[in-house]
Amino acid sequence: MPGRYLLRTFGCQMNEHDSERIAGVLEERGLEQADSAENADLVVFNTCCIRDNADQRLYGQLGQLASEKAKRPDMKIAVGGCLAQKDGARLLERSSAVDLVFGTHNVARLPELLDLADVSDGPVLEILEETEVLAAALPASRRSPFSAWVTISVGCDNSCTFCIVPSVRGREVSRAATDIVDECERLASDGVVEVTLLGQNVNSYGRDLDGRRPLFADLLRSVDAVEGIGRIRFTSPHPKDLRPETIEAMAECASVCEQLHLPVQSGSDRILAAMHRGYRAGRYLERIEDARRSIPGLTLSTDIIVGFPGETEADFQATLDLVEAARFDSAFTFIYSPRPGTAAAGMNDPVPPEEKRERYARLTELVDSIAWSKNLDLVGRPVEILVEGPSKKDPSKISGRTRGGKLVHVSDDDRIRAGDVVTVLVGGAASHYLTGDLAL
Ligand code: 5AD
Ligand code: SF4
Repeated sequence: MPGRYLLRTFGCQMNEHDSERIAGVLEERGLEQADSAENADLVVFNTCCIRDNADQRLYGQLGQLASEKAKRPDMKIAVGGCLAQKDGARLLERSSAVDLVFGTHNVARLPELLDLADVSDGPVLEILEETEVLAAALPASRRSPFSAWVTISVGCDNSCTFCIVPSVRGREVSRAATDIVDECERLASDGVVEVTLLGQNVNSYGRDLDGRRPLFADLLRSVDAVEGIGRIRFTSPHPKDLRPETIEAMAECASVCEQLHLPVQSGSDRILAAMHRGYRAGRYLERIEDARRSIPGLTLSTDIIVGFPGETEADFQATLDLVEAARFDSAFTFIYSPRPGTAAAGMNDPVPPEEKRERYARLTELVDSIAWSKNLDLVGRPVEILVEGPSKKDPSKISGRTRGGKLVHVSDDDRIRAGDVVTVLVGGAASHYLTGDLAL
């Protein structure tokens, strides 16, 4: 079915990466990218279901698209990803405009499913419980010529009580280390200089492989040995599984970036226990202290949930205290969103929504002020950036990221091209970015 496709992606980097595979599969079939839904023959949504607002956005967009489809009934709408995996047939009940629903385990079957939708009288639904072909084995249409994601594992064996991920992504399956290293070598020979290793819980990588090896630390060392890859990032490690070996490998491997995203979720031991996180706040703080001691210049970020069921003002204060003590470079902050089917969704939650919103505002204010002060510490200093391209914020500048993952807007200079690794002198700082000029 040649024609034009539009792909809309919601959610995390895992989904962004799956979308590169979805685009790859569609382009292999001769479809070209459309620039809007109005001139698309096929619209594919790759969905997220981590919080309720992701569900609402998808259903809102499907509502808008239904009127376009009423004008052009030949246009096909396919919905894949986590919300599709979670809602399945309910998605078809909620939107009659949808022609195909596929899940997180069957991206490889998209061409056959689209063929089926072409000839079928009604909508097609296929949700599998396990992955048959790892998406990593599919062709990809990559977003960047010099930066790439590499899947190291899919699924999650943890049972954080707030989280829907294990039920939509399934049990953890690690990819063979040789396949990961081969992919990195291929990427390097294509001109890629930066890879981000992706897994729901990268630190438990290898536990399902023979002899429970290699460890994530061993994998970091193997990827570090790939010539041409100068920057290795990874996301996300779980604090309870962050082993000293991983910190050692980070410190020793020249290509592994000085960046750690370590989701803490809460600073209250009572709430951490109710979340089933498997660590206490004190242990978390010790781990980050170890990491900072071993890796000079480490950039540290986190995820925090506010308003978990039963969170008291004292619990919330413990989160603020942890944020003060940890001094994160940045934090993704969320108001707890009950996900039907998770353990926390059944917990008593007497905290009124206004109070949660007020706590959320207090938390983001603190997080932003610390982020700003950490960025101010860099003013006057040189930083290495990988240039990405024109700045989205200010077209007269170009943007890139430091090894720590900080966004830098640089005054345009003919000597800089996308893909270059250059040194920039930091001249200014905000909470979420730095500004600077090319260092001579
Ligand atoms: N409500 C709010 N935030 C959530 N997260 C995961 N599940 C929920 C939920 N039900 C957050 C966690 C996780 C990040 C990816 O999303 O902080 O680390
Ligand atoms: Fe969800 Fe916890 Fe698994 Fe992360 S580790 S995906 S928060 S269950």
